[in-house]
Amino acid sequence: MKSVYYVTTPIYYVNADPHIGTAYTTILADVLARYHRLMGRETFFLTGTDEHGDKIARAAAAQGIEPQQFVDKISGRFRSLWPQLNTVPDRFIRTTDPDHVRLVQTILQRICESGDIYFGEYGGHYCTGCERFLTEKELVDGKCPDHQTVPEFVQEKNYFFRMSRYQPWLVDYIHAHPDFIRPDRYRNEVLGFLREPLDDLCISRPRSRLTWGIPIPFDDNFVTYVWFDALLNYLTAIGYDRSDSWIIHWESVEHLIAKDILKPHAIYWPIMLHAAGIEPYRHLTVHGYWNFRDSKISKSSGRPVDVTPLLRFFGADVLRYFLMRDMVIGLDATFSIEMLVNRINSDLANDLGNLLSRLSKLIHNNFNDRLPEPPAHPGALAHQAASLVAAIEGYLSERKLHVIIEETLQLIRATNRYFDAEAPWALAKTDKKRCGEVLYESAEALRIAAVLLYPVMPSKMAELLSRLGEPVEDFLLTETAVWGRLRAGARVESGDPLFPRIESDTVLAALPELSAGKVLPPSPPASPDPESLLSIEEFTRVQLRTAKIISAERIAETEKLLKLSVDIGDGRRQIVAGIAEHYSTESLVGKTIVVVANLKPTRLRGELSEGMLLAAKSGGKLVLLTTDEEIPPGATIR
Ligand code: MSP
Repeated sequence: MKSVYYVTTPIYYVNADPHIGTAYTTILADVLARYHRLMGRETFFLTGTDEHGDKIARAAAAQGIEPQQFVDKISGRFRSLWPQLNTVPDRFIRTTDPDHVRLVQTILQRICESGDIYFGEYGGHYCTGCERFLTEKELVDGKCPDHQTVPEFVQEKNYFFRMSRYQPWLVDYIHAHPDFIRPDRYRNEVLGFLREPLDDLCISRPRSRLTWGIPIPFDDNFVTYVWFDALLNYLTAIGYDRSDSWIIHWESVEHLIAKDILKPHAIYWPIMLHAAGIEPYRHLTVHGYWNFRDSKISKSSGRPVDVTPLLRFFGADVLRYFLMRDMVIGLDATFSIEMLVNRINSDLANDLGNLLSRLSKLIHNNFNDRLPEPPAHPGALAHQAASLVAAIEGYLSERKLHVIIEETLQLIRATNRYFDAEAPWALAKTDKKRCGEVLYESAEALRIAAVLLYPVMPSKMAELLSRLGEPVEDFLLTETAVWGRLRAGARVESGDPLFPRIESDTVLAALPELSAGKVLPPSPPASPDPESLLSIEEFTRVQLRTAKIISAERIAETEKLLKLSVDIGDGRRQIVAGIAEHYSTESLVGKTIVVVANLKPTRLRGELSEGMLLAAKSGGKLVLLTTDEEIPPGATIR
C-alpha cells in the first residue's frame, strides 16, 4: 500500500482578503504535497476558511450585510484565488459546511459526557484579532502585541473545557515526541508557556452577545467558541465521523502554521484531541512571518500585500519560486518587489532560462531540432545530479525547501560553466560528435533540475520538460530523475524565453506601494573579481580576538564616535568606533565583541585608537559582532 501524506494550512479568517502571507502557507502546503507525490506517496492537501466568531460578525455588520452573505463572498475569493497560484487543494473546507458543524457538536457532546466541560464565570482580556483571551503576561503595554489593540475586558458566564487537567500529560507528550512541534525554537517556546499554570479554556459565547457560531449541543443559549470550532476542521476533512479510513491520513498529518497561532495549535488542539480520545496530530511545522517594510504582512498591520496584481505581473510559478526560495522555515523573511525581481532575473532568467535558450538554439542550428547522441560515459554533471537526487528525501524531512532549490540551481550553474568551458558553438565547426555530446549532457542536467523544481513551478517546469521532448505528468522521482532518460532523436523545441527578464522600474511604476522604500544595492556578481581575492596567508595575518567592553564614553563634539576601553585578555586597549548612533554607552558595557587586534594604532579626533571592532551593517542598521556563548576576552577567532 502507498504511504500517505496529509498536509493542512490554517483555515483563514474571512475578515480580510487573501494576501502574500496567507498565500505563502497555502503554496508551501501545495509544494510539500507535490514533493511527497514525487516520492511516491498518496497525498491529501487541505485548506479552507474560518467563518464564525466575533471578528467575522463585526466585519459583516460593518458592511451592513448578513454574516452568511458576507462569508460566502470572501470565502469565494480564497477559493478562486488558490488555483490561480497553481495550488490544488483536495478539499476546501468551510466551517459553515454541514459536515463540520455536525462533527463539532459530536466532539463537544463527547467531551461534555466525559466530564471535561463545566459551567462557570470568567473575566479576562479578550483580543478580537486573535479571537482569544490573552494572559497578563502576553500583553505589552496593555496591548495585544500582534494586533496593537487594547483587548476588551469580558466577564460572563460560559462553558469551560478543563484544559489545565491535561497540562502534565502535554508536557510529557512533547518531551517524548521530539518532532511533534518543529523547528525546535517553537517547541521550546511551547514548553516555556507550559512552565506557567494553564487556565481552562472558555469554549462558548452566550447567544445574547453572539449568534454567529455553531450551537452548543447541550445548551441552546450558547454558541461554540471559534477556535474550538475551527481546529476540528482538520478532522472533518478526512471524514473522522464518517469513515474508518480517516486514521490513515491522521497518522501522517502535518499542520503548517505561522508563529502567530502557535498557542491554539500546540496547546489547545492536542489537549482537545486527547480529551476526545484521539491521538494527537503527527507534526506541527511552524514558519515565521513575511514582513514588508519591517512589519508583518497583514490587514491589521496596515501592510497587506495583495496577490492579484503580483500574479498579473509575475505569474504564479515565479511568485511561488521566490516565496519558497527566500523563506527559511522557522525564520522571518522580507518581501519587496526589488528582491522578487532580483531573484527572478538572476536565478530564473539568467541561470535557468538562458541555459535552455542557448541549448535549444544550438540544437536547432546544428542538429535540426533533434537531440544528439549522448557520450559513451556520463561525466561529472551526472554525478552531481545523482547525489542531489539522493539527498532530496533528507532535505524534505528537514523541511529545507530553500536548500533543495538552491542546490538545484547549483546544478544549473555547474551546467552553465560546463557549457562555457566546452564551447559547443565552436565544437560545432570542429568536432560535431563532441558538440552533440556536450549538448546532450547539458540537456540531461537541465531536465533533472526541471524534475526537482517541478513541485515549486509546475507549469513552467512542465513546459520546459515538454520542450526537451520529455513531457510528463504524474511522475516518480525514482523513475524520472535518472540520468540518461532523454532519447537521442527526440524533438527539442526552441521558443520564447521561458523566464523573460523583468525590470523592477516597470513593476514599481505600476505598483509603487510595493517598493522596499529604499534603494537596494545591486546584487553581487556571481564570482568575485580575482583581483580582490585574499590568499589564506594574507587572511591569517589579521588577528581577530574577543574583547570585553569595560567602559564606553562619547567623544565631545562628534555625533558618531565613542571611545571604548576593552579588555583583550593580555591587557586593556582603547578603541574609537563610529557606533554612537546605534548603541548607548550603558548598553555596551559588559558586551563581548570581536576586534582586529593587530591594526596599526592611529588617532581619531585626537584620541588614540588601538584596534577596530567588527560590526554588521545593512541599510541603516548596524549591529556588533558578539559571541554565541560566554568566552574569556582574548580568545582567538579563526
Ligand atoms: N482562522 C485562524 C486559523 C485557524 S486554523 C484552525 C487564523 N486565520 S488567519 O487568517 O489569521 O491566518 C493566519 C495564518 O495565515 C498564519 O498562521 C499563516 O499561516 C498565514 N499568514 C498570515 N500572515 C502571514 C505573514 N505575514 N507571514 C507568514 N504567514 C502568514 O489565524
